[in-house]
Amino acid sequence: MKLIFLGPPGAGKGTYSQALVEELGIVQISTGDLLRGAIKEGTELGLKAKEYMDAGNLVPDDIVIGLLKKRIEKEDCKNGFILDGFPRTVPQAEALEESGIKIDKVINFTVTDELIIHRLSGRRICSKCNAVYNINEGCVPQPEDKSKCDDCGGELIQRDDDKPEVIKTRLEDYKQKTEPLIDFYKEKGRFAEVNSTQEVEKILDDIREVLKEI
Ligand code: AP5
Repeated sequence: MKLIFLGPPGAGKGTYSQALVEELGIVQISTGDLLRGAIKEGTELGLKAKEYMDAGNLVPDDIVIGLLKKRIEKEDCKNGFILDGFPRTVPQAEALEESGIKIDKVINFTVTDELIIHRLSGRRICSKCNAVYNINEGCVPQPEDKSKCDDCGGELIQRDDDKPEVIKTRLEDYKQKTEPLIDFYKEKGRFAEVNSTQEVEKILDDIREVLKEI
């Protein structure tokens, strides 16, 4: 099964992908995680990407398309995958089409700008094990201690691009460059929408319903 999870930053693409990969027997491919991995390793590509990401802008298409193509060739992708955060521009979607990979379903997660800001500003990441928490009301999972990871005790930090001024740029970039993909995929069919303002369990059930159509 090959899926695309589409939606603005903070829509929950990562949360729902991680919750579903095991039961679906497929892998999650997050271009955001791939890029953050390259930054951590200090590669030339990572250094280049960091400038864009810290400012809340999209990383140039050629960099992301190259990374994605390399990742998809790996053995663990043979049963399928969820693309979380790719494509994000029309040229990226066209590159995916040209690669001949047949996507079974594109799911777009809808959410309000207010909720995006609320979710992203409360997100915290464990500096040791990368576990994701959220300290804002109504968001999940909440850490027991706002400054420490429940699992490994590592310090909880805020992603640089989750700071309020950067969130604004990410949202603007999303509206300008990524939102057009909704019509792109609607025209191609195999498109569904899920209301991402609900509780996580309800959203996961809605996704499972959509997947029955495949
Ligand atoms: P990336 O890491 O992909 O960030 P994003 O798409 O902006 O997505 P987020 O991780 O912010 O949101 P999400 O939808 O996964 O939400 P999450 O599940 O975490 O990309 C980062 C950067 O990398 C980009 O800005 C860009 O620079 C670059 N990049 C990446 N891909 C690229 C590409 N293809 N082309 C060019 N550049 C690229 O949820 C958010 C929070 O809300 C979490 O704390 C979660 O626990 C909570 N939450 C979610 N859903 C619920 C719910 N239903 N109820 C309660 N809490 C919830």
